[in-house]
Amino acid sequence: LAKAEVDMASIPEGKNVTIKWRGKPVFIRHRTADEITEANGVNVTELRDPQSDAERVKRPEWLVMLGVCTHLGCVPIGEAGDYGGWYCPCHGSHYDISGRIRKGPAPLNLEIPEYSFAEDKLIIG
Ligand code: FES
Repeated sequence: LAKAEVDMASIPEGKNVTIKWRGKPVFIRHRTADEITEANGVNVTELRDPQSDAERVKRPEWLVMLGVCTHLGCVPIGEAGDYGGWYCPCHGSHYDISGRIRKGPAPLNLEIPEYSFAEDKLIIG
């Protein structure tokens, strides 16, 4: 199936959901106001893969990204690591609350798939 649909009302604020899309995990986080503030408070020029939070989201409260570590492809763990985001246990990569690589061997931020919003649904693909 080319597209996946997620009912946004099923994901409360402050929670992660993982869905499968084209055989890969997609992480969806309904971010809190504090998390959005944190994501925007980072000095982008100090990042390994410099991207502002605004470049990574369409709506600040919804972070959507592939759950595939950019090092060697393991699936990171949510609500873990030193930067309040995701942690890849394979070789210790830490991603922040915008999915940006902050520490460890991964070279790039977690990838953002194509997605859109339609009424109360998030459509991946
Ligand atoms: Fe994630 Fe190596 S695959 S740190």
